[in-house]
Amino acid sequence: MSRLIVITGASAGIGKATAHRFAANGDAVLMVGRRETALAAAGDELRAAVGGADVRHVALDMGEVDSVPALQDAVAATGLPVHGLLCCAGGTAGTGEGVKAVLSEWDEAYRTNVLTAVLATEGLVDQLADGASVVLYSSIAAYRGSGGTGAYGAAKAALHSYVHTLANRLGPRRITANAIAPGYVAETDFFDGAIDPDREAALVRQSVVGRAGVPGDVAGLAFYLCSPEAAYVTSQIIQVNGGQRHGV
Ligand SMILES: NC(=O)c1ccc[n+]([C@@H]2O[C@H](COP(=O)([O-])OP(=O)(O)OC[C@H]3O[C@@H](n4cnc5c(N)ncnc54)[C@H](OP(=O)(O)O)[C@@H]3O)[C@@H](O)[C@H]2O)c1
Repeated sequence: MSRLIVITGASAGIGKATAHRFAANGDAVLMVGRRETALAAAGDELRAAVGGADVRHVALDMGEVDSVPALQDAVAATGLPVHGLLCCAGGTAGTGEGVKAVLSEWDEAYRTNVLTAVLATEGLVDQLADGASVVLYSSIAAYRGSGGTGAYGAAKAALHSYVHTLANRLGPRRITANAIAPGYVAETDFFDGAIDPDREAALVRQSVVGRAGVPGDVAGLAFYLCSPEAAYVTSQIIQVNGGQRHGV
């Protein structure tokens, strides 16, 4: 029987590469993101690359509680329990001058990075198969801070506590819960396709392997975390950053 893997943030970057990794293994994949057109294009790309891929999508803003019933329905329509829930949706928040801009930055960062993961997970908790895997997506920013007033890094750090709580709650069902904390990953929309070349060079220099990460580096770890070999790996935050040093 094929496994059902639900991936939020699958319309681009790391989530899209992760969808390819699971589809190539013969898993059924449900891709979630806000942009219908980008999801449809990602699905077409995946079907062209992986013959016979069982891939579907649903366009939802996972930071909104009203999206949860539609997510539950999309899963129910597959007729399968969820074997892997990968909460990859995330991104930075706009910054500005003044305390109102600070509030908006923190609200947006929390909604985009924390609530997208919490609402997807809590919404699907009863549809998870026993022995399933939940993977949250943190960042090196959780360890060393981030731009603006730091809302992005703080939001990612909140997921660390949540993953431990999830592991405790879901452990009796043999469900694992882990977080992946990437360093700089190129070939994504994360920097709106426009990272400053000097900044990129500095980030690459921080890595001890002398290159940027690519989405496949992160997809491989998510695939492992959803495999039977990782059944005893839970409540962990695993960094994928080419040895990128904290605080540099
Ligand atoms: N790239 C890096 O260097 C890096 C480093 C550390 C951590 N990360 C983390 O890795 C994850 C993936 O990032 P990426 O680099 O692949 O960035 P990306 O290419 O910008 O992809 C982000 C994905 O999240 C989706 N998304 C954002 N808000 C959403 C919402 N409210 N509801 C549903 N989907 C939403 C986007 O789709 P729509 O726009 O269609 O909604 C998109 O598919 C994120 O959690 C990010 O914080 C990235």
